[in-house]
Amino acid sequence: MSPEQLRQYLEFYRDLGIGPLYRQPAPQGAEEPATAELPGLAPAGDTLPAILQDIGDCKRCRLHEGRHKIVFGDGSERARLVFVGEGPGADEDAQGLPFVGRAGQLLTQMIEGTAKKEGIPLQRSDVYICNVVKCRPPENRAPEPDEMEICGQFLFRQLAAIRPKAICALGATAAKALLARKEGVTRMRGNWFKWNDIPVMVTYHPSYLLRAYNQNAKREAWEDLKKTLHYVYD
Ligand code: URA
Repeated sequence: MSPEQLRQYLEFYRDLGIGPLYRQPAPQGAEEPATAELPGLAPAGDTLPAILQDIGDCKRCRLHEGRHKIVFGDGSERARLVFVGEGPGADEDAQGLPFVGRAGQLLTQMIEGTAKKEGIPLQRSDVYICNVVKCRPPENRAPEPDEMEICGQFLFRQLAAIRPKAICALGATAAKALLARKEGVTRMRGNWFKWNDIPVMVTYHPSYLLRAYNQNAKREAWEDLKKTLHYVYD
């Protein structure tokens, strides 16, 4: 960890009200160096309301500058399946809810349509939906690595608090945040990976599917979702 990363990490925990983070300096003559002792990423007994409260009126990264609303997540704390997107768009920023714009409508249709077709009684409200970053990146650009790292801590706490049976990573940003692998979505999609022992299915982001030339990708995304729903709900 670089000194700059360590500084950001410590600042992040200080902002959360957790501290002090340093061990007492080792007594003179002792072998052990005085190292930073960082708390576990998910405090014991963590809950979604506690995480939301810790986020507060967040100004930990530059994305707060242009946001209207923090988009924390939506759905059941007891969800067995969590969908992770990239970050809010204009509609989400205005409403404070994830996946409510065009891509969101497609995601809802995909979840409910596939479930119905497969005989699985499931509504969007039964799953949990959130993003890697909670504030809209300007002009819908992809989140920067430092923004993903800072906000990703809250995503990890959300996932640890819910502990779903599976996670579905929508697109490259979610896959990168959860799995830190080099392959692109095209290579990874349709396969199971793991985040902290929880199976992660990677698939295309709904915004990508909205582009007309992606009929094949659409079919593949439906396959991925079918596989995920059967794994979680059968
Ligand atoms: N795209 C995302 O990645 N997330 C949203 O909430 C909406 C669009």
